[in-house]
Formats: sequence, structure tokens, C-alpha cells
Amino acid sequence: MNTLFDIAGKTALVTGGAKGLGRMIAAGFVDAGCKVYITSRDAAAAEQAARQMSESGSCIALHADLASADAAVALADQYKSREQRLDILVNNAGRTWGAPLETFPDKAWPGIMALNVQGPFTLVRELLPLLKAAGSPQDPSRVINIGSLVGAVVERLSVYSYAASKAAMHHLSKELAADLVEHHITVNVIAPGYFPTQMTAHIRKEDAAIQKLLARVPLARLGRAEDIAGACVFLASRSGSYITGSEIFLDGGMAGCR
Ligand SMILES: NC(=O)c1ccc[n+]([C@@H]2O[C@H](COP(=O)([O-])OP(=O)(O)OC[C@H]3O[C@@H](n4cnc5c(N)ncnc54)[C@H](OP(=O)(O)O)[C@@H]3O)[C@@H](O)[C@H]2O)c1
Repeated sequence: MNTLFDIAGKTALVTGGAKGLGRMIAAGFVDAGCKVYITSRDAAAAEQAARQMSESGSCIALHADLASADAAVALADQYKSREQRLDILVNNAGRTWGAPLETFPDKAWPGIMALNVQGPFTLVRELLPLLKAAGSPQDPSRVINIGSLVGAVVERLSVYSYAASKAAMHHLSKELAADLVEHHITVNVIAPGYFPTQMTAHIRKEDAAIQKLLARVPLARLGRAEDIAGACVFLASRSGSYITGSEIFLDGGMAGCR
């Protein structure tokens, strides 16, 4: 029982691991004894985050802007030049765009779809040999995709391309899970509700808005670092090895308690 959640010695790649949810996930893996690669568009920020997280373990910074499929290939190449296997891939990097329907711009589509959907797909494709090398029937390698509550539930945030990209991510995760099961690779998607990161800063700016939001969260609080880190450690560990193709809501009950 005491090794059920043990992931020490595994190697993980967390996109966007220098800040926000990615940082919470990366820190959780580092603390649990994994060797963790994080990425950021900002090389200095990635180095600083990796240095800070390395105080409790092993964290390595990679510089990557994942705005295009070519960039995802380049990140996979960077990783492949350093490692021969990959136990855990977390596709976390993502961005959003909010505007009223009447003025929602066309330019708010291609970049969001490229980063939130195509990039994760390309990374899985390019890193497949390394994920295969790490997976076994007893201990599959793991792909953890970060989707969103808004990819499954209508939240009326006017984030049309983002919501559609996350819904695509949720479905893509199931498609990949079905295809990769024979290679001993599990694929799951976590659907976070509201966590206090830069992405939700605009919602948290006004007290009235945050109170209105919290009134809709059955567990009456925002997500915490330990919520997302704990879910990822669980999915990456022996205790999570029988789960694939699942959509896991991490939202204080917002989806499930309606
Ligand atoms: N916060 C929430 O409540 C919430 C809810 C549901 C889902 N999510 C999802 O959680 C994930 C992380 O978001 P967050 O809340 O942590 O927001 P955030 O603080 O804004 O972080 C966004 C992350 O994506 C990375 N990123 C953005 N554009 C990128 C690009 N072109 N290339 C590479 N990386 C890029 C950023 O890395 P750098 O800036 O360091 O390059 C950063 O790590 C996203 O997929 C988001 O959709 C968040």
C-alpha cells in the first residue's frame, strides 16, 4: 500500500511548467522524486523556475514557444537529445481569448487551436517512441492532458475558440487513449474548474465577481496547487494505472453537482 502513489525515479515533461497550473504540477512531481522537464517561452523564467524547484529535487528548463506544430516537433527533439524514455507527458500549456460574440475576431482561432490542440497531438506523435519505451503492462507510461471545465460544460465566458479547443482536447484524449492502449500508454484529460492563475486573474479582480463565482462552486473555493498536483501524481502512479480515456473534473463539483 505504501508504494501506491510512488512515482520516484520517473521522468516527466510538463509543458508550460514554469508558471500557473504547470508549475503546480511540476513542483508536485519534483517533490515526489521525478526528474521533471519544464518548458516556457521565456528562457530566463524557465531557468529560474527550474532552479527553485531543483531545491527539492530534479528540474530542468527547456525553452519552447509552442505556437506551431513545428515548434512542438522542435521541443520533442530537444527532449529526445537528452532522454531515451518518457514516463509522463503533461500537455498543460494553453491560452485563451475572450470577446463578445459580435466582435469575436477570426484571429482568435488559429493560434488557440495550434497551442491547445495541435501542439499536444504533435508532442504525443513525436514522443511516441519514448513513451513506448517507458510503458509496460504493469506500469504504463502516462499522457495527462489539461483540458477545462469549459471544454465540457457551457460556462458562458465568451471564450469561443478556447472552449472549442478544450472540447477538442477532451475528445482527442479519448481517441489517443484508444489507440495507445496496446502500447501500454494511458491518456487522460483533467478538466480544471477555476484555479488562481494568470488565466483567471480578470475574474478575480473584483470581489463581487469572485463571490459570484464561489457561490456557483459546490465546494465553495478555488482550486489549490495540491488539488492539481495530487490528481497528476495519482494518475502518474501505480494507483492510476487502470485509468485511461477518462475525463477527470477537478472543479469543486461544478460539473458533477449540477
Ligand atoms: N486557471 C484555471 O482556472 C484553468 C482552468 C481550466 C483549464 N486551465 C488550463 O490550464 C493550463 C494552464 O493554464 P494556467 O491557468 O496555468 O494559465 P497561465 O498562468 O496563463 O499559464 C499558461 C501557460 O501556458 C504557457 N503558454 C502560453 N502560450 C504558450 C506558447 N505559445 N507556447 C508555449 N507555452 C505557452 C505559459 O508558458 P510561458 O508563459 O511560461 O511561456 C504558461 O505556462 C491551460 O491549458 C489552461 O487552459 C486553467
